[in-house]
Amino acid sequence: MINIMLRYLGIKTKLLEPIKIAIDNVTPQKGSVIDLFGGSNTVAQNLMNDYTVYTNDYQAYSYIAAKALIEYHSTDVINCLSLENVFGKYYEENKAELTRRFSTPLVAEKKFLADIGDVYYGETFDKFTDYFDHSAYAGHPENAHHVFDDCVSYYSSTEIKKYREDSKLFPYSLFTLYYGNPYFSIHQCVEIDSIKYSIDKLLECGEISEEEHSIYLSFLIYCLNLIVISVGDHFAQPQKIKPVKADLSGERDSINLRERKKIIGKKRTLVQELYKEKFEEYKANYIAGNIANRAFNLDYKILLSDPTFKALNINTAYIDPPYTNAHYSRFYHIPETLVKYDYPEIEYFGRYRTDRYQSGFCIKSQALEEFRTLLRLCKENSLHAVISYSDTAQCILTIEDITSVCQEYYYNNVVIENVAHMYRNFGQKPNRVLAKEYIITCKYKE
Ligand SMILES: C[S@@+](CC[C@H](N)C(=O)[O-])C[C@H]1O[C@@H](n2cnc3c(N)ncnc32)[C@H](O)[C@@H]1O
Repeated sequence: MINIMLRYLGIKTKLLEPIKIAIDNVTPQKGSVIDLFGGSNTVAQNLMNDYTVYTNDYQAYSYIAAKALIEYHSTDVINCLSLENVFGKYYEENKAELTRRFSTPLVAEKKFLADIGDVYYGETFDKFTDYFDHSAYAGHPENAHHVFDDCVSYYSSTEIKKYREDSKLFPYSLFTLYYGNPYFSIHQCVEIDSIKYSIDKLLECGEISEEEHSIYLSFLIYCLNLIVISVGDHFAQPQKIKPVKADLSGERDSINLRERKKIIGKKRTLVQELYKEKFEEYKANYIAGNIANRAFNLDYKILLSDPTFKALNINTAYIDPPYTNAHYSRFYHIPETLVKYDYPEIEYFGRYRTDRYQSGFCIKSQALEEFRTLLRLCKENSLHAVISYSDTAQCILTIEDITSVCQEYYYNNVVIENVAHMYRNFGQKPNRVLAKEYIITCKYKE
């Protein structure tokens, strides 16, 4: 059973079987595998029954999900997890203060969402759209909807600066200040901030361990993924409410109405309910793998160059780097900020972190050299390498480019396999595309 914390761009759910077969072909029984670009950690999970599994990813949200899903947790730890803990006094304390500060927009938002009922056009809906389009956010208190009048000062640059200097300042407010409309409802932001405050406080007061903290945090990552208002399942492009004609005679009105319904459905979702669902599902389905399983959160170059890495005696590296110019740090900037909780500098309509990581695999002029470094380091660590790469118009490199780099290091011990499947073309037309996916196996020989 695969537990998903993140619906992920480039997730390999459809290719789990051929990837596993390729890994089985080179890895000894009871051997060990590292998923160097873990992402959603789906591939690593699928290997846990047979191997000791390590995972790595530069992004912090992926690391937290890996800590929950891949690392070993004893039955005692899993049994100890408690919703009463998460939604206890610390949660209530933070929520009460945020509710006091943002009471006017919270009350107004509740009314907007209730008044709409299931009619997604007309005057009542337009009132909601006006609020949706004019919500204040960090450093941008100007031109906000009048429901923000009595709390607009909290959004000022001076207030944000205080939090930036001390991110533990009470009440935790990052989501409420940064990611209200379009991304989330304010009531959802209040919940997210209060859950984060609660688990941080529980950790700080020694009431839970780091291990439990990561598990609790991973459920919150899951919630964000399901309620965010954006194009596709990621966070790169905040969604707008599109207009419809008063008599609904417009060509795209039925599509726009469907989108509006979806937005309102998400906006009404209670974070606490989703969190509880994930909590129960995780507790019921968690299967502990090998006690040595471990997650890393590093640039793969740093990890593979560390002398202690070799001592782990890992047999095989599964390699699934980005293959288009879509930087994961932009697409998943909000879960990254949830984990870092650092009140970052932000830019553009998407409110992206300004310090987002730029992966060399996403940059045309660097990608081939990045592969060369990767294959060299794999070889130096005596690793078999199983690589996934795609062949679409958006791909930065061709399969020929990659194969020739593989052959530079693994000579004629390189096998290429074509594994075609249909994939979702996030937010673009056509919606579903036949992907030519390749698995390249490089067998290490002394
Ligand atoms: C194609 S995705 C992996 C998808 C994954 N196999 C799955 O099924 O969900 C590529 C991942 O590589 C990570 N990444 C990109 N450059 C990296 C680097 N230099 N070091 C470590 N991770 C990196 C990204 O954060 C992203 O999660």
